[in-house]
Amino acid sequence: MKDGIPDRDALGRLEREAQEAVAAAGDVEALEKARVVFLGRKQGRLTAALRSIGALPSDQRPVMGNLINEVKVRLEALFDAKQEALSGSGADPEPYPGDPTLPGRRAWEGGRHILHRVVRDAKEIFVRMGYSIAEGPDVELDYYNFEALNFPPDHPSRDTQDTFYVNRDILLRTQTSPVQVRYMERHAPPLRIISPGRVYRNESPDPSHAAEFYQIEGLFVDRDVSLADLRSDVSWFVRQFFGPGAQVRFRPHFFPFTEPSAEVDMTCFACSGEGCPICKKTGWLEIMGAGMVHPNVFRYAGYDPESVTGFAFGMGIERIAMLKYGIDDIRRFLTDDIRFLRQFWNEQWAGVSE
Ligand code: PHE
Repeated sequence: MKDGIPDRDALGRLEREAQEAVAAAGDVEALEKARVVFLGRKQGRLTAALRSIGALPSDQRPVMGNLINEVKVRLEALFDAKQEALSGSGADPEPYPGDPTLPGRRAWEGGRHILHRVVRDAKEIFVRMGYSIAEGPDVELDYYNFEALNFPPDHPSRDTQDTFYVNRDILLRTQTSPVQVRYMERHAPPLRIISPGRVYRNESPDPSHAAEFYQIEGLFVDRDVSLADLRSDVSWFVRQFFGPGAQVRFRPHFFPFTEPSAEVDMTCFACSGEGCPICKKTGWLEIMGAGMVHPNVFRYAGYDPESVTGFAFGMGIERIAMLKYGIDDIRRFLTDDIRFLRQFWNEQWAGVSE
């Protein structure tokens, strides 16, 4: 600018100085001051330059006027952007008050419920033996829970399982055995299934009874299936689940849907069969019911009892969990006491998809 007359070089310098002032402004106030210096309507340097174009020869005025306006538009945008950065979300954050080099806290991870783990382990053992998994409804027909399992109507054997009835025909299943019948209705022999699931009984809770608990049912049907096959599969499961030292024995028992029937015991884990308070000095602990499928059950399911035989077994999941892990009260499984549950989280569950 010579003698107050603007030229391109002077305009270029003015723009650069304005850019530097914007960059140097550390807060909104400093920026506002710079804006007044360069863009102020009365005293601003750009305003002064615009005014002075009157001194130019008339043919140069429009060119210079345009140039000055372009600079003005650019600088206004620059000031606005910086203004936003200083006052809005783009402002430098407050410095972090803590020590950012300290290690972080581990996130709360949780873990699988112990019963879930026991069911998973049991399923895995049976699947390796060739069993597949079948399921049935918790709310069940009296027909499947009792009648087709050879519990005659009004027969006293029904009283052994304190039933929650929905109405005369519908109930909460008291056992997983109804899945046997449902499965046989839809599949031809031979078959080999296990069926894990929740069952319900109208029991007053005590250390060994709960009104809802889990069972695993097993069913094997083929030609010439024998008690020896039952014994072999059950022993194999018990040794896999509890350890190689576990022995089983069969005690005669009664179930309406099996004949002969047995209760299965295994050697007491606490005394290895010597006799102790846990096994009431017998050396044995009861773990499941079992037997050869009753011909009537085959008839209800549409099988010919002359051409097939089979065995079934059923065990309480909580019961085998209590025996394996030394848990003293079945009610603990349902209390959600994190101190109890956490004891069983020592296993990595990453990648388990069930
Ligand atoms: N359903 C029986 C019960 O709940 C257990 C069982 C299953 C017994 C299969 C024999 C065969 O007591």
